[in-house]
Amino acid sequence: MNKKISVVIVAAGSGSRFGDPLPKQYHQIGDKTLLRHCVEAFMCFCPPGQIQVVYNPDHQSYLDAALGELVCLHGLRPAVTGGQTRQQSVISGLRALKDAAPDHVLIHDAARPGIDPEVITRVLAALDNCDGAIPGITVTDTIKQCDGAGHIIRTIPRETLMAAQTPQGFRFQTILAAHEKFAGQEMTDDASLLEQLGVAVKCVAGSHRNDKVTRRDDLSRVGAHFIDEPAAPQARPHPEDQELSNMPGMTSEEFRNGTGFDVHRFAPGDACMLCGISVPHHARLEGHSDADVGLHALTDAILGAIAAGDIGQHFPPSDPQWKGAASDQFLKHAAGLVKKRGGRIVNVDVTLICERPKIGPHTMAMRQAVADILAIDIDRVNVKATTSERLGFTGREEGIAAQASASIALPIRSS
Ligand code: CTP
Ligand code: MG
Repeated sequence: MNKKISVVIVAAGSGSRFGDPLPKQYHQIGDKTLLRHCVEAFMCFCPPGQIQVVYNPDHQSYLDAALGELVCLHGLRPAVTGGQTRQQSVISGLRALKDAAPDHVLIHDAARPGIDPEVITRVLAALDNCDGAIPGITVTDTIKQCDGAGHIIRTIPRETLMAAQTPQGFRFQTILAAHEKFAGQEMTDDASLLEQLGVAVKCVAGSHRNDKVTRRDDLSRVGAHFIDEPAAPQARPHPEDQELSNMPGMTSEEFRNGTGFDVHRFAPGDACMLCGISVPHHARLEGHSDADVGLHALTDAILGAIAAGDIGQHFPPSDPQWKGAASDQFLKHAAGLVKKRGGRIVNVDVTLICERPKIGPHTMAMRQAVADILAIDIDRVNVKATTSERLGFTGREEGIAAQASASIALPIRSS
């Protein structure tokens, strides 16, 4: 069963070591603040309404500028007030998530803008088998313990040392209870609390891109990871891929591609259904169902990939039961056919072609809606848009066209 994941991003610190009137989490790398980089990194891992930012109300205007429209577009939870210490801020974020009742929570410092999806994936995967998991970096310098006067007391063997990073992941109830128990005792990370309780916490590989910005010169060092990044390494097999190849009776799988195309004309109205969400507009799309042109194209792409005909064969427009129907059921049906064949959806990509409404601000919500309908991760769903340079029927704003592609993996069973 998929676990419900929430995220706490603590951003209530004042950045005293950074030493600037603008707190470090509101400084920019590229065109985004550190805080925004963090929020966007997690948006692919948890559904809307599961990201909890913790802030200092003295920074309200910085927060609004940093996250602004994400609050409505991705359903960020309203930020909650942090405390004097990091630990107080974390507990404030965890308490605010009680009503969301997640299975797992990731706790992340806004001062680490370079969080890699791979690191998040590793932490979440480790949580399948333990109550806590954190990313860590091996220590390469020789470590000396010194007294207050700078005299070396001893050299600490570094082989077993790891520098702890965030996001630190935990079973929600376990870490909430630990924070409540140790409230008031300051520890510099969350895993320390479970260590005190004797609960096993696993350390997985972190990354230097994810280093923390503490002092001013850290900003350029961490920022350097964002510029001219080398091409992403070859993707490791997704955990689902590995599970499949381990299934008895299965030797391997083959990949199928399908494409879909659809057009609906505008009619008088006030919103268009597009990729599963209602987008305000001065017209609606006309059709027998809810005319969600994006979902129709995508349904056809999936049906195409498994050689299952087209949407009209499965849901004839002449059949009155589909009048005004929500198109998510068409897409669910296509996904169900894939599942019946023991297959899985690898990724889907939808392009909406129109001059208006503007699609860009809605793509994240659309991706999430499609991912929810298909029951796949949002990082397997893309939605984009283009105009047709005012040419043709889309250019004249007579309607919207959509095209889609889908990649499907089907098992090849051994005989
Ligand atoms: N943090 C927080 N509430 C606090 C203190 C820290 O939410 N009372 C957050 C910071 O915003 C940061 C993370 O915890 O994202 C890690 O803390 P740190 O790097 O120490 O940041 P600051 O406390 O802001 O910096 P400093 O210790 O130099 O003042
Ligand atoms: Mg601090």
